[in-house]
Parts: sequence; structure tokens; C-alpha cells
Amino acid sequence: MMTKKKALITGISGQDGSYLSEYLLSLGYDVYGILRRHSTTETQKSRIDHINHKIQTFYGDVSDFSSLAKTFSSIQPDEIYNLAAQSHVRISFDIPEYTVKANALGVLNVLEAHKQFCPEARLYQASSSEMFGNSFDSDEHQRESTPMNPVSPYGCSKVFGYNMVRHYRNAHNLFACNGILFNHESPRRGSNFVTSKVVKTAVEISKGIKNELVLGNMDSYRDWGHSKDYVRAMHMILNHDVPDDFVVSTGKTHSVRELCEYVFSRLGMDYREYVRQDEKFLRPEELKYLRGDCSKLRNTFDWTPEYDFEGLLDDMIDYWEANLV
Ligand code: NAP
Ligand code: GDD
Repeated sequence: MMTKKKALITGISGQDGSYLSEYLLSLGYDVYGILRRHSTTETQKSRIDHINHKIQTFYGDVSDFSSLAKTFSSIQPDEIYNLAAQSHVRISFDIPEYTVKANALGVLNVLEAHKQFCPEARLYQASSSEMFGNSFDSDEHQRESTPMNPVSPYGCSKVFGYNMVRHYRNAHNLFACNGILFNHESPRRGSNFVTSKVVKTAVEISKGIKNELVLGNMDSYRDWGHSKDYVRAMHMILNHDVPDDFVVSTGKTHSVRELCEYVFSRLGMDYREYVRQDEKFLRPEELKYLRGDCSKLRNTFDWTPEYDFEGLLDDMIDYWEANLV
């Protein structure tokens, strides 16, 4: 009988952790996850409650090496997905030190635990297009070779993690990979990220629950995909013949204004009547433009996203329309 592969996910309770767990379960994996201690335990696992009986979770924190040592050595995973992070860019300006502890030193802890307790395992690191900052190539895309000039504490912390993964791969012969993922969203996206905030508030306005949407910079551009598509790419990257780094993106870019235009018009409204801008949502330094070229990924794997920009937003609108009463 074939033994089942074991996957260990840090950040299992987050947007990507929940979709990745579902996907790995569908492939026949045993799925384990690390959870932080929360004061309100009832809501902590809201994204994974429906699969709680199929997965095993342990308390831990990527900033606590002893917790990683214990779980990595006892589970002996075949695959490790390090998704844990303080993932909100604007909030990283408010809590820069904690962001660096979790997103940079946390990766170092994961790499050390990998090296010391399960060196045969494969490691996926959740790197980010925020690492590029405001640099792009002459064809107005970012790709694996584009220089990284981060413009936020979050971006700086992710560059450290990215470089440490490459260094541990070369120095210690670990199977460690970076997925450089551009923005990806879903109905499970935290509601203080712009797509979720716009969709949820627009639905609330359409139902008469709210009367305005207050945003920051509406002229920045992002390359938005669906989390469900992107977790499939994570698994492909980790199951390649050799450890390597890959951009995952849609290759299309839209402004926050275009996002508002589409969502409000789908709900039969004109966004200009409801959206107001407020300085409090601006960032000290803004990343203005993202558009990823994932040719390397597409030339290596058979990865085709199911959702385009409109399909992604329709999925989110349908969810909030059904769940807000
Ligand atoms: P998310 O919804 O914010 O999930 C982050 C997860 O990490 C949550 O489960 C969170 O747990 C956990 N976590 C936070 N700090 C931790 C710590 N110190 N120790 C252990 N767990 C911790 O983020 P996501 O959208 O799923 O993103 C997953 C990863 O991909 C993150 O590393 C993010 O930076 C990266 N990424 C995301 C995108 C995107 O557009 N979504 C793009 C590129 C890269 P709590 O519930 O306890 O907070
Ligand atoms: N959150 C938020 N709230 N963003 C706003 C708002 C607002 O009220 N108004 C305008 N924006 C603009 C931001 O200034 C930014 O230019 C854009 O909307 C997207 O913001 P977020 O949705 O917060 O995402 P992000 O691009 O900063 O970061 C996300 O993507 C990264 C990959 O590029 C996060 O998921 C990161 O974890 C991820 O690494």
C-alpha cells in the first residue's frame, strides 16, 4: 500500500492556507497545520472549520523556533508550505518590527528547522510581488530577473526571506523554493484588503446597510488573480524536478478605480456617487504598478488559471450577496 504524503502548512488558517489544504486533501495528502494562539478560539478557524475533521493542527508560531522544532521533528513532513506572515502591507508601516520578526526571521526559523529536523522535505516559501517595489522591466512587466526595490516594511521583510531561501538551497542543498505571487483574492480574503473591502462595502450599499466607501489611493495598479488558482501553482512549484523560483501572475493589470467601476456597475450603481478618498488609507510610500510575466511558470508546468479579473470579482460579489443580510 502507498503511504500518504504529509504536508505541513504554516498559516493554515489564512486565505491561501485554507484553499491549499482543500487542494492537498483532494490529492490524497495528510494535512497538518500550525495555528497561533488566539483569545477568541471560536472564530480562529472560520476558514477551515469545514475541513477540521480531516486535518491536524498544532499550536505554534514562526517567531518561536522551539514550536517549529517540535512540529517539524514529530510530523516529518514531505512538503512544508510556509505561508505564515503579517501579510498586510499598510499595517506593516504601523508594526514594522513585528512584521520583520514574523516575515523575515520567521523564514530563517523555518529554514533552520527544515535543515535540522527534516532535510529531505521540500519547502515552499510565500514570496511576494511587493518585493519588486516600483521597479519594472522596459516592457512594463515584473519577472524573476526584475530588480527588487521594496517600498514597505512588508516588502523588505519578504526580500530577506526570499534571499535566505535561495541561500539555504545553495549552501545546504535543501529543496527550497520561492513562489513570487502577485495579488490573489477570493471570498475568503480579509476584508481590509482592497478587493474585499470594495466588494463587501458595495454589496452593503446595494442592500442599504451602508451609504459610502472610503478608500485611499485609487490610481495604483495591481495584477489580481484567484487564490484557488494560485495554490495549485504552489503545489506544482514544489513538485518540480529541481528547486527553483517562479513568478505566479495573470499578466493583466487594473487600477483600484477600475475595480470600483466594475463592482459597482455589476450591482447597478455608479461608483462615483459612493466612493470618497481619505488620507488615512494612504501609505507613506506606495507601490504604484504591478503586472507579472509568468512565462517561466507557464513554460515549465501546465498551469492555466480558471478565473480572470471579472470572474474573480463575480465570485466575491456572489459570496457577499449570499452572506450579507
Ligand atoms: P492571510 O490570509 O493574512 O494568512 C496569513 C496566515 O499566517 C494566517 O493563518 C495567520 O494566522 C498566520 N500567521 C501570521 N503570523 C503568524 C506567525 N507569527 N506564526 C504563525 N502563523 C502566523 O494571508 P494570505 O493571503 O493567505 O497569504 C499567505 C502568504 O502568502 C503570506 O505569507 C503572504 O504574505 C503571502 N502572499 C500573499 C499574497 C496575496 O495576494 N494573498 C501575495 C503574495 C504573497 P492568524 O489567523 O493567527 O493571523
Ligand atoms: N487595503 C487597502 N485599503 N488598500 C487600498 C485602499 C484601502 O482602503 N484604498 C486604496 N488601496 C490600494 C493600496 O494603496 C494598494 O495600492 C492597493 O489598493 C492594493 O492594496 P491591498 O489590497 O492592501 O494589497 P497590497 O497590494 O498592498 O498587498 C497584497 O498583495 C501583495 C502582493 O503584491 C497583500 O496580499 C500582500 O500580502 C501581498 O504580498
